[in-house]
Parts: sequence; C-alpha cells; structure tokens
Amino acid sequence: MIPSSHGSRLRWLTELLASWQALWQPAPFYYRRLPWAEDFSALRDYLLALDDRDCARLEQDPFASSVLYDWLPVVDLAESIRLPALFQAQSPLPNAWSAHVGGRKWRQLEAFVHQVEMIPGQPLVEWCAGKGHLARTWSRFHDQPAVGLEWQPELCRLGQQLADRQGVALRLEQQDVMAADAAGWLSPDAQVVALHACGDLHTRLLKQAAISGCDLTLAPCCYQRTAEYDYRPLSRLGRELADRYDLRLNRDDLALAVQETVTAPKAVRRQREQANAWRLGFDLLQRELCDHDEYLPVPSLAYGRLPMHFTDFCHWAAKQKGLSLPAAGIDWSHWEALGWQRLGEVKRLELARHLFRRPLEIWLVLDRALFLEEAGYHVELGVFCERELTPRNILMKAVSN
Ligand SMILES: C[S@@+](CC[C@H](N)C(=O)[O-])C[C@H]1O[C@@H](n2cnc3c(N)ncnc32)[C@H](O)[C@@H]1O
Repeated sequence: MIPSSHGSRLRWLTELLASWQALWQPAPFYYRRLPWAEDFSALRDYLLALDDRDCARLEQDPFASSVLYDWLPVVDLAESIRLPALFQAQSPLPNAWSAHVGGRKWRQLEAFVHQVEMIPGQPLVEWCAGKGHLARTWSRFHDQPAVGLEWQPELCRLGQQLADRQGVALRLEQQDVMAADAAGWLSPDAQVVALHACGDLHTRLLKQAAISGCDLTLAPCCYQRTAEYDYRPLSRLGRELADRYDLRLNRDDLALAVQETVTAPKAVRRQREQANAWRLGFDLLQRELCDHDEYLPVPSLAYGRLPMHFTDFCHWAAKQKGLSLPAAGIDWSHWEALGWQRLGEVKRLELARHLFRRPLEIWLVLDRALFLEEAGYHVELGVFCERELTPRNILMKAVSN
C-alpha cells in the first residue's frame, strides 16, 4: 500500500531506490561486463535469452506482464508510480485555436489549460514560454490577460505576432529567467505556469516561488539539464533521506528518469537503432585499437546527419575524439556486426533499469513537492494527459497557504 503523504512516500521510495541502486545505476552501454552480472547472473541470462518480441514489448511498457518478478521488486515499483489522472471528462477547445501548433503539442496544451484555474484579477505568467502557446490558449479560453517570459527574441516576436493576430491579450517579454530581475514577475498574487521547463529552469522557478509565494502549475522536464553534475535534493527531507539511505544521484541518473520516449516514427526509430549499433561497434573497435577497455562517449548526431556507411561513421567518431584509425587492415563488416550484436545485448540488459525510470522521476517530483511544502505550500500531484501525448506528463499544482 502506497503511503498517502508526499513525505512518507518519498521515504518509502528512497529506501526502495537505494536498495536497488547497484542494479539500476550502471548503464549497460558502458560496460562489457556489467557490475551486477555476477550477483544477478540468472537475471542476466534470462534477459539475454529474451526474443525480439518480448524485448520490444518490455521496452515499450516495462510493467505490462513483466516477466522479471522473480528477481526484481516489480510490484512495489509499479505501486510507486501510481498518480491520479487529472484529465478525465474535459471538454475540447475549439479546433481552430490549434492553428500553428503541432497535433500532439496541441492536445497537451488543451489538457494543461484545463488544469489552470482562472481567478479573476490574478495575473498569469508563463515561465520559459517559447511562442507562448500555453499562455495564449489559457488567455483566449478565459478572456484574461497573460504574460509569457522567453529569452529568445525571435520566439517572442513570432509568439507576439500570433497572439496579436488572434486578438489575444498575451504579452511576450524577452526575459532570461535565470537572471535576478526575473523574480520581479513573480508577485505573491501571480499564478505561474510552466510546461516542460528543463532542469535548472524549473528549479529556479521553484526557488523563486518559495520566496514570493505565487501559485504554480508546473510540468517538469529534462531534470538532467543542470549546471551541477551531482544532484543535491531540493527539499530538507530529500537531503536527509538521501544521506540516510546513501542514495547518490548525478546527472546521468537524472537522464535515466527521462529516457523513456513516446514511440517515434519508424524511420526515426530505425536510424536511432543504427546509430546505437554503430556507436557500440565503434566503441569495441576503439577499445581494441587503443588497448584500453573503457567506453568512449561519442557526441550524438541529429536525425538525418548519420553518415551513410559504418566506415564513414567510425572516421567521423574517431575525428571527434582525436583518434587516428589505421588506413588499412580493419575488417569493417566484422566490427559493424559486433556492434549490432552488442546492441541486442545492451537493449536486453537495459530492461532491468527501465523498471526504475518512472520511480526515479516520481522521486524527483516528490522532492520538488516537499520543497514547496516545506515553504508553506499545499501541493497536488497527478498526470495531466496520457503518456502517449508526452511521457513528461506529471503535473504539480502548488498553492501557497
Ligand atoms: C522545452 S521549451 C518549452 C517551451 C514551451 N513551454 C512549450 O512547452 O512549448 C523551453 C523554452 O525555454 C526557453 N529558455 C531556455 N532558457 C531560458 C532562459 N534562461 N530564460 C528564458 N527562457 C529560456 C527556450 O528558449 C525554450 O523556448
């Protein structure tokens, strides 16, 4: 049974995550021999023997009929990620309002807008607004003024144009939210919204809000986009529990929390697989050539930038890392085949970690909720839309007491 208060839930989840840290923390990509392989040899053998269909099914939904109950605390982990769905029975907004917004994004906005109350006279401020789609939609829905804060002048210009054309009372302000003067927008009577504000951008908002006492509706995103590599819990309770249970998180762990992606189009998925296989093939090759058995991270390439052939990819990767490859004598198809083989193994071993991704995200959200509660807020957590629209669908509604 999941504890009811955010504090006791954080405590329960800290214990769970800390006791399995050795299993979910190491990324199989990095290790030819995983640190937990000895202790969980039966689990490793089971995962490596999974066929492609079961592997794909568990990748897509790690909790659906999981076959890993024998080794991992699947029931507790599944319990730990339960959040109320906040989006039932919402009436859709007029279709014409979705012009200039992508289909999935529009449905997210629609769901989010219904979560933001309209309190007459309470100004609405959107933090990291982009073109201000969220604030514009809210403003249009309630016929109330709003302000969007965004640092890119071009996004402000385009967003303002859009709002003006639609006759919406939205003002886009060019503002670096990390700058000291951003606090000026967060008066105690303001209501601040943020959809998918990354790492430090949303923690900045939380810290400023705790000072000013403004109300917040926030869907956090990209927890790993932080200046600091080591994660320092925001809440007092988070820090105390992390110390007590020795739960040490860093930027790579935070990246695990958001690794889950909604199924991308087939062509994108195929290219991503190929890039991963080539990356692993190159990694095996460089380990051999340098006689140094350590993973060498290579920068990622944007969609469509992947070279046509494995050989070209390896030359590109070697250049990025300042390595020179021998002009002759490399059996490229051998290393490419090894890369694909290793990708199959890595994908299967990753399945054990997949079960911990969402619990880790919930832990980070609870830490944020506790931080606000410690500052005198009442905080409600839930999911604001289906996961298919965005896996970053957790919403925090915080009202200052
Ligand atoms: C992930 S986007 C989210 C945009 C919008 N909320 C949405 O959901 O479509 C993050 C936005 O934050 C803006 N941003 C990044 N750093 C910023 C900063 N320091 N100050 C203000 N805006 C910033 C980016 O330019 C971008 O438009």
